[in-house]
Amino acid sequence: MNEKTDSIRTPKVMLVTGGAGFIGANFVHYMRENYPQLRIVNLDKLTYAGSLNNLSGVEGDNYSFVKGDICDGVLLQKIFAEEAIDTVVHFAAESHVDRSIDGPGDFIQTNIVGTFTLLQAARAAWNGKDGDFLFHHISTDEVYGSLGEDGFFTEDTAYDPSSPYSASKASSDHLVRAWGRTFGLPVTISNCSNNYGPLQFPEKLLPLMIEKAVSGQNLPVYGDGSNIRDWLHVKDHCSAIDCIIRNAKAGSTYNVGGCNEWKNLDVVHLLCDLLQEIYPERDFRKQIVFVADRPGHDLRYAIDAGRIRAELGWSPSYTFQTGLRETIKWYLENTVWLEAIHEEKYTGGRLGLKK
Ligand SMILES: NC(=O)c1ccc[n+]([C@@H]2O[C@H](COP(=O)([O-])OP(=O)(O)OC[C@H]3O[C@@H](n4cnc5c(N)ncnc54)[C@H](O)[C@@H]3O)[C@@H](O)[C@H]2O)c1
Repeated sequence: MNEKTDSIRTPKVMLVTGGAGFIGANFVHYMRENYPQLRIVNLDKLTYAGSLNNLSGVEGDNYSFVKGDICDGVLLQKIFAEEAIDTVVHFAAESHVDRSIDGPGDFIQTNIVGTFTLLQAARAAWNGKDGDFLFHHISTDEVYGSLGEDGFFTEDTAYDPSSPYSASKASSDHLVRAWGRTFGLPVTISNCSNNYGPLQFPEKLLPLMIEKAVSGQNLPVYGDGSNIRDWLHVKDHCSAIDCIIRNAKAGSTYNVGGCNEWKNLDVVHLLCDLLQEIYPERDFRKQIVFVADRPGHDLRYAIDAGRIRAELGWSPSYTFQTGLRETIKWYLENTVWLEAIHEEKYTGGRLGLKK
């Protein structure tokens, strides 16, 4: 954990939205392990991407789960009225770029209208009071658009989103900032690079590839695999969020990344090589096939995380190789978790080809 001893804020009752999804559930586990006294109210609609299976072992007096929609203002009002919430950590979103190409409507509804509804409810509950209130918004580096071969996204990079997903996240970032500037709501924002780790829905690159590799299927690489992403272990993302919530000044934004850029094809190669350590008789690289690229596929994302390192003393603790080895092991050991998703929600097919 990266914690400064002179924290400016100590959350006591936290509303986590989207806490049954990949990062949100990891964050709930992380906070329960590190702050058992903290009360957490987890609000999640349980869309295809959310599951109570992600929260097994999370229970007790300091925890409650509410199944509901962040677009439901009446429900939000009730939660704020019943719980003395001092910190909102807002993960809930539609999060998959390919799905945003197939059907952008849900992204506009949840990511924009939902964030607006949550901001209004938080603002009414906060009501200008002095004290420790904070609304922390989780966002993505994709709001900045695509980089060329060099350069990094800083917190001052102009927004230039390419996909319906990133445009909806950019919109939500603007709303959060506006509620801070116009209404004085204490807000912070973090824009993070690609996360990997346990509990990620198997439509995303790493769990998709692990599963397909082991079951002997083709490993579909979009385009020529030259698109570059910066990868961060989800637990490092959780520690960064924790660090921001405790230490950041209201109104501030932090980029969060692993300084860990990889071409997609090289990630898949590394994954194949790590799998081969476990199954030495197999040649996973032979399963790689190149498929039609994603429409509007950004070439390169790379985060300059200098501000959070310098101002808050945060740094990631995982190397990619270590994190990926652990992640592979997790997916190989959690086949029951994966099978439940396949039975109910997703069979592993290609999404996002519509133009
Ligand atoms: N995954 C990444 O690499 C990454 C990187 C940077 C930022 N982010 C951001 O982090 C957040 C979480 O991402 P994730 O990968 O965990 O997503 P996810 O898709 O795994 O989980 C999203 C969760 O939100 C819930 N949800 C969706 N719509 C809702 C609604 N209307 N009301 C209440 N709950 C709703 C879902 O049920 C699910 O549990 C998102 O805001 C995403 O934009 C993700």
